[in-house]
Amino acid sequence: MHETLIAAAEAPIPIRALSEADFDNLGDARLQALAATHRFKAKRGEALLVTGDDGALAEVLFGLGKGQPDPMSLRGLPGKLPAGDYVLKGDLDPRLSALAWAMGSYGFDRYKPREDKPRPRLVAPEGCDLEAVTAIAHACALARDMVNTPASDMGPLQIETVAREIASQYGATISVVTGDDLLEQGYPAVHAVGRAAASHRAPRIVEIGWNLDKTDLPLVALVGKGVVFDSGGLDIKPASGMRQMKKDMGGAAHALALGRMVMQARLPVRLVVLTPVVENAISGDAFRPGDVLSTRKGLTIEVGNTDAEGRVILSDALARASEHNPDLTIDFATLTGAARVALGPELPPFYTDDETLAADLAKAAKAEIDPIWRMPLWPGYRDAVDSDIADVRNDSAEWAQAGSVTAALFLQRFAPETGSWVHFDIFAWNPRARPGWPAGGEAQAIRGVFAMLKKRYG
Ligand code: BES
Ligand code: MN
Ligand code: ZN
Repeated sequence: MHETLIAAAEAPIPIRALSEADFDNLGDARLQALAATHRFKAKRGEALLVTGDDGALAEVLFGLGKGQPDPMSLRGLPGKLPAGDYVLKGDLDPRLSALAWAMGSYGFDRYKPREDKPRPRLVAPEGCDLEAVTAIAHACALARDMVNTPASDMGPLQIETVAREIASQYGATISVVTGDDLLEQGYPAVHAVGRAAASHRAPRIVEIGWNLDKTDLPLVALVGKGVVFDSGGLDIKPASGMRQMKKDMGGAAHALALGRMVMQARLPVRLVVLTPVVENAISGDAFRPGDVLSTRKGLTIEVGNTDAEGRVILSDALARASEHNPDLTIDFATLTGAARVALGPELPPFYTDDETLAADLAKAAKAEIDPIWRMPLWPGYRDAVDSDIADVRNDSAEWAQAGSVTAALFLQRFAPETGSWVHFDIFAWNPRARPGWPAGGEAQAIRGVFAMLKKRYG
């Protein structure tokens, strides 16, 4: 990975961040004439490359627009600059600026390497912890790489491998239960959803444990939906809906990336990361609409639709999490299309009944500029996941309509009763490219959650 943040540089090129008002008061005729030529007005995200007498790049003007400056707008800048070392002037938040720069330098180049030339690098602004910022940016890049990598190269074994690498890097324990062992070890729901896959892509549950012997520390459990490809199973998805389903392991990628942030920062917590990993495939052995599945918790699930597979595998993972008596359980899942209908691709909903946690999360995420929005675990819709012949059904009753809410209510039936629980229904994807936000895999909510965890436990 190219490092795009550095500690120091010799004669770095200054980037001057200016609001529109700052720009109007610049009082520099040469610069203003140049700006006019290039129609630069210091609008948010605009960049003006200023050359010196020798014709070389001497300075960059970066527009902050009107009103409260948004340091995240710096994500768009590295892609507009030639290779070189830069230093940021002006009073943007140093840590968020550095983070924005690093995240904006991300590109997915596994199959189509970007030209192998040095990229623009930013001298870490004074007052920002270079190592801490780099760790967060790397974790987000890991999540994005995992989501972007197609199912052919990011199958169950590859997710297990990523988890093993993270565990060994931080001295964590890891255990993996695979294939028919899932039945013996009490993960029947994970097995049912994943058993149709080819044997080399067998279902599994991956569990990382860190600091578990330090029993006086609070225990945080992270759970992530790891569907490496969601064909929809027998209730097969239409082509348009299936096209992006390599990203259906986004929850697992997010849980692993957040787990890595926690371990890297040595947060004083005990940590469990649980990712049920399956391919929702079609074969003669696939689970069927109408099947009644048993689960680790003992509740039975009537399968109304094999395409509502995420909540089924999460039921076993949440039941497993509760066996650790967690103080806090956080799950991430690309769970419903309905979440997108409600809030669109850039604003993941979260669900919790813990008012303090909801407030802490909202506040931390806002400060981190990592947008999330609370939605309700509306008790009036609880009946929508009742089944006539089993304890719950995986496709909620149509009358309730609110698909993301009813999916969350389904998970709530399996969530730990000790401590608090919060569920994120993430999209993990940028459907359109913007400078600094390339189309494809995106890390959502984990920076905000990490900030909340640091505040709470750090
Ligand atoms: N992985 C999908 C949800 C999804 C689709 C997330 C598109 C992001 C983008 C999930 O497994 C699914 O198919 N959910 C169904 C549930 C329905 C069958 C009850 C959905 O949302 O349509
Ligand atoms: Mn599905
Ligand atoms: Zn899915």
